[in-house]
Amino acid sequence: MADATDFQDRMLSLGLARVSEAAALASAKLVGRGDEKAADQAAVNAMRDQLNLLDIAGVVVIGEGERDEAPMLFIGEEVGTGKGPAVDIALDPLEGTTLTAKDMPNALTVIAMAPRGTLLHAPDVYMEKLAIGPGFAPDTVTLDMTPAQRIRALARAKGVASDEITVCILERPRHEKLIAEVRSTGAAIRLITDGDVAGVIHCAESDITGIDMYMGSGGAPEGVLAASALKCMGGQIYGQLLFRNDDERQRAYKAGITDLNRIYTRDEMVTADVIFAATGVTQGSILAGIKVEAGWVTTETILMRSKTGSVRRMLYKSPLK
Ligand code: FBP
Repeated sequence: MADATDFQDRMLSLGLARVSEAAALASAKLVGRGDEKAADQAAVNAMRDQLNLLDIAGVVVIGEGERDEAPMLFIGEEVGTGKGPAVDIALDPLEGTTLTAKDMPNALTVIAMAPRGTLLHAPDVYMEKLAIGPGFAPDTVTLDMTPAQRIRALARAKGVASDEITVCILERPRHEKLIAEVRSTGAAIRLITDGDVAGVIHCAESDITGIDMYMGSGGAPEGVLAASALKCMGGQIYGQLLFRNDDERQRAYKAGITDLNRIYTRDEMVTADVIFAATGVTQGSILAGIKVEAGWVTTETILMRSKTGSVRRMLYKSPLK
């Protein structure tokens, strides 16, 4: 079995970029067509086909759902040729299906790979998330603080006033109280309609995106993907699983989680070095969207390795099929 020092992450990383590119290319024709399911299915098929070309003994730990819900890229599915290192795979072939269907910003294809047993097997429940970018002392902000305390703490750490902080939050009725409390501090809010992996990644490039902090609940699987990205880019994320009923608690037990109240840090969600790739589908603030022009299609992919801290941005141009 591969361990953290024998993961061949350098060799595998370019292959991982191809996997996320393939998913984005497949969904290209479905941007703005109002069909979430078709866009997702196209991305799933392409991601799976490419993933199965990689020389890995991969297991999907964050995927399209439980085996009985998802025929492809389900949790526990073995992927790759079986010939390489034993790895965990976290993926979301289309993060922002509605964003894609409506041609709204920041839909991405996302995949992360790490040595076997090192990515949190987060069940498909909600997770309370809090994230900031690199350069801050550990625990500058925590989930135990109130939203107002977090804003004041981050403002202090940045040496700015609270009204110079911008927080990214998913626009949902469940976040009304959170939004009101953040507004009461004078901080600005960038509301997003979907896509909290991108929402969190925004914090790691705050000089470009203008976002300092991410707060609120969203999918737990997306939390692990976001933690993988921040492990490469720097930055902190905390996540706490949220359960609405017993069925959701059972999902957690099934995934091997025993402490249902635990707050996970970034390095507890991703316990070893990880590689992460994401490709823009619709135009976004982190990645350009897919461009189709004059018989060519172009994608932009970000490919990162936590071991080296390397961040590659790659443009890929291929003839339109
Ligand atoms: P999909 O791509 O599966 O539609 O997910 C988009 C998303 O916005 C995630 O980024 C986020 O974590 C989750 O949905 C939020 O869930 P909900 O829409 O139930 O609030």
